[in-house]
Amino acid sequence: MTTALITGSTAGIGAAFGRRLAADGHNLVLVARDVDRLREQATELHDRHGIEAEVLAADLATEEGISAVEARLADRKHPVDLLVNNAGFGNKGRYLDVPMADELRMLKVHCEAVLRLTSAAADAMRERGRGGVVNVASTAAFVPRGTYGASKAWVVQFTQGAANDLAGAGVRLMALCPGFVRTEFHERAGMGTDNIPKWMWLDADKLVSAALADLERGKSLSIPDPRYKAMMGAVKFVPRGLLGGVTSRTGRKYGPQ
Ligand SMILES: NC(=O)c1ccc[n+]([C@@H]2O[C@H](COP(=O)([O-])OP(=O)(O)OC[C@H]3O[C@@H](n4cnc5c(N)ncnc54)[C@H](OP(=O)(O)O)[C@@H]3O)[C@@H](O)[C@H]2O)c1
Repeated sequence: MTTALITGSTAGIGAAFGRRLAADGHNLVLVARDVDRLREQATELHDRHGIEAEVLAADLATEEGISAVEARLADRKHPVDLLVNNAGFGNKGRYLDVPMADELRMLKVHCEAVLRLTSAAADAMRERGRGGVVNVASTAAFVPRGTYGASKAWVVQFTQGAANDLAGAGVRLMALCPGFVRTEFHERAGMGTDNIPKWMWLDADKLVSAALADLERGKSLSIPDPRYKAMMGAVKFVPRGLLGGVTSRTGRKYGPQ
């Protein structure tokens, strides 16, 4: 039996990874901050699929939280075969409206935690000559979309670079770039979503199936939906200024601060 560690496992895309990997018979290490929700998820997945689900409560915006998950990934006696770096969030507001402490918290979770957890996992995986890492970025990585998009662009560049460096070592690294997915993300960030057309919404379970198929194929970048693939292809030919105007009108409606 193999083991997968999922950060941000209790909601949205992370929970969809949990359901799918448990159904496929993987043991799980579930990481998020809310320990009650983690325990409930672990019990449900164990009861439904007969897998072992470990709970690791950690805040990845803190040194203590990142270190605890690093230590679990580095544990050679209980190897992790697949790491899904999925925990993430959006800040409420545009550039300069968001307190600097919140911007730095986002970089800690989206970039520092992803760098350190990927490295802890990949180091152990390289020794064993096998393993996989999925780093959840976003299609926002490809458009001028504030500090959120910038942090996700870092995830894409880092992951593809690391995948190149580890080519031939048996370790697969893939950046996953979803478009809009119905999860708790937008509500948590206080974002209105009425201006996002229905056709742009993706289903988390389908997204995860397509992502795992892409990982199996050895892709280092996954845009797991034909509509978004076409859009991201077209984006390369649109002037950045025009693109910035369009993206700032789509999907970033903030309520009262
Ligand atoms: N939804 C979208 O449209 C969309 C699109 C593209 C990319 N993404 C990316 O997909 C990933 C998952 O987002 P989602 O939409 O599934 O969000 P979500 O439904 O809000 O779930 C976020 C998960 O991350 C955990 N989390 C948040 N902050 C954390 C922290 N500091 N430390 C540890 N865990 C933390 C949350 O649990 P706790 O609160 O208990 O910690 C929860 O399990 C994110 O990286 C996001 O940027 C989302």
